[in-house]
Amino acid sequence: MSSASAPGKIILFGEHAVVYGRPALAVPVTQVHANVEILDSPKNGIWIDAPDIDLHAELKSLPSDHPLATVIHKFFPHPNPPPAGRGTTGEGIEIKIISTIPVASGLGSGAAVSVALIRALSSYLGQSMTNEQVNALAYEIEKSHHGTPSGIDNTVITYAKPVFFIKGHPIETFKVGRPFTIVIGDTGISALTKEAVGDVRVLWDADKARWEKKFDEVGEIAKQAKERIENGEWELIGDLMNQNHALLQEMTVSSPELDRLVNGARKAGALGAKLSGGGRGGNMIAMVEPEKAEAVSGSLKEAGAKNTIITTINP
Ligand code: MEV
Repeated sequence: MSSASAPGKIILFGEHAVVYGRPALAVPVTQVHANVEILDSPKNGIWIDAPDIDLHAELKSLPSDHPLATVIHKFFPHPNPPPAGRGTTGEGIEIKIISTIPVASGLGSGAAVSVALIRALSSYLGQSMTNEQVNALAYEIEKSHHGTPSGIDNTVITYAKPVFFIKGHPIETFKVGRPFTIVIGDTGISALTKEAVGDVRVLWDADKARWEKKFDEVGEIAKQAKERIENGEWELIGDLMNQNHALLQEMTVSSPELDRLVNGARKAGALGAKLSGGGRGGNMIAMVEPEKAEAVSGSLKEAGAKNTIITTINP
């Protein structure tokens, strides 16, 4: 048997503008993860069991552009005949995918499943892969399903470290001067990143000068936030979150539900709050003093959050 797991992620600053080359900050969230196990099976063929998305099927019955099929075909380009003879007990394999990362919620579920699946398959086949190779393949998969992704999701998830990300640049991690606490609130509304990214592109196409300026503002916020986090001055980043959220609202990627949670967090004493990820639904984040985390989490639930996670970002 081979297995691998990958964490979720949140974008602290800079989503959307990152697609246009501005820097963004993201951190892994280890409270949620995708796990993949590969087992020898007495049944012929490659079988996938992913109860979270209610998928129990043989690979060859999936459309070839299915996100899971795209990854598996990279390792088994000719799945028919199946990978016979690999196992000790049978003729085929069973791939079990269990993820606690809510789908289409801004926490990187798609990238986490890809990364865990790539690692489990490469280990099953005895092909060792570096993080760089895993990341490059996960990015290729992201591109085939999400249009024009920046690559931030697969990068933070592959390396499982805080990243200061600029599209096309080598990976840069950043130091966390002092631990800080974030409360994540889930609207429970699933939203496709691809659509939000596409809609921002329509705005940009219609008035490039205006949006380039806005993206510059977001990039500056991300840079300032990195400096403050590195200096351990997390008390000062709440305001930057509020500024970033206002810019995301202008990009039309917030929603009434996200705004309700963001306002609820601020009223309950969060230092700042913003949506996180593609937006329109999914998750928001609030920067809190640790002793206020429970209260903020409670008021997020009162404001309609389906779930909350309190996470500490450690040095
Ligand atoms: C999604 O987590 C972040 C976006 O900026 C898209 C991307 O960077 O690919 C919205």
